[in-house]
Amino acid sequence: MTTVVLLTNDPILNSELQVAFARNAPELNVVLPDDPAAAEAQIAACWYPPAGSMASLPNLQLVHSVAAGVDHLRTDPSRADLPACRVVDPDHRRGMTEYVRWAVLHFHRDFDRVAAQQRQSAWQRHPQRPAGQFRVGVMGLGSLGAAIASDLAGAGYAVSGWARSPREIPGVICHHGDEQFDGFLDGLDMLVNLLPLTDATRGILCSKTFAALAPGAVVVNAGRGQHLVVDDLQQGLASGHLRGAVLDVFDQEPLPVDDRLWQMPGVIITPHMASAASDDCIALQVAENARRLLNGEPLNNLVDPTLGY
Ligand SMILES: NC(=O)c1ccc[n+]([C@@H]2O[C@H](COP(=O)([O-])OP(=O)(O)OC[C@H]3O[C@@H](n4cnc5c(N)ncnc54)[C@H](OP(=O)(O)O)[C@@H]3O)[C@@H](O)[C@H]2O)c1
Repeated sequence: MTTVVLLTNDPILNSELQVAFARNAPELNVVLPDDPAAAEAQIAACWYPPAGSMASLPNLQLVHSVAAGVDHLRTDPSRADLPACRVVDPDHRRGMTEYVRWAVLHFHRDFDRVAAQQRQSAWQRHPQRPAGQFRVGVMGLGSLGAAIASDLAGAGYAVSGWARSPREIPGVICHHGDEQFDGFLDGLDMLVNLLPLTDATRGILCSKTFAALAPGAVVVNAGRGQHLVVDDLQQGLASGHLRGAVLDVFDQEPLPVDDRLWQMPGVIITPHMASAASDDCIALQVAENARRLLNGEPLNNLVDPTLGY
């Protein structure tokens, strides 16, 4: 029997996953790290695994993120030599698409402005801008970004996207590579980040990036907190070059109560809720990879260690 040890920073998540594994994958022995059977674990299912927690597991063969991202695995780099897989939940795309659509509509249709006006009992209409004249750029055209770019294009927005390698998405102008980054950014009204956090993408939401956007542009960060340079955002908002920002992810989560972002004018904070893989999907995908590992078959959603995603 394959043993899976849950290595997370969240006891509630552990309990939920245990229920989901029992329901969907009773063939697996799923244990917490303090269970003596953990020493037998072949698979670690992780969300911010405690530092050093994998070092004492001699039978470990696979590190499995329970999310789409794998950057959080760095909290325990002790078994970085092992293959790592992630979860790709098809329903993830729906949640993220809804989230980004809401953010786009909020600014495209001036809900930020009329909400501020309401607080002053001010009745003022703003000229309605056709969706086709609102330029949205999506950074990252993977499992999530491609679906979002496609959805926005279908809704009539002028959409462009940027990835590491060439992509083709109907209705979306696709750019790729560092050399096409400036051309991608040029004149965007909204920049949506759906990149993975890697050494190449950390801090990408910075002054230099913001400067290339249209005056009054909006930034949406649904990737990871460390993509954003908060000082640069604050400066962009204070100067008026940026109109607003929608932030779902943060360097430290939960965002501390005294963090300046909570009160920063123009910033909308959401608690890392844009989209989450379902517990059932996590259990099923880990179980499928457990079966593949046992049979020596290729693993699903394997991370490229050289690229870091
Ligand atoms: N806020 C939330 O609730 C939430 C939920 C889920 C995921 N996320 C975040 O969203 C991220 C993306 O998820 P995903 O499943 O769509 O990932 P994915 O399928 O791995 O796609 C990543 C995309 O980013 C591109 N990329 C990576 N490095 C790049 C670079 N240096 N320059 C340009 N493009 C680069 C990739 O280019 P190629 O196509 O050329 O490989 C790919 O298009 C996750 O890593 C996670 O951080 C957030």
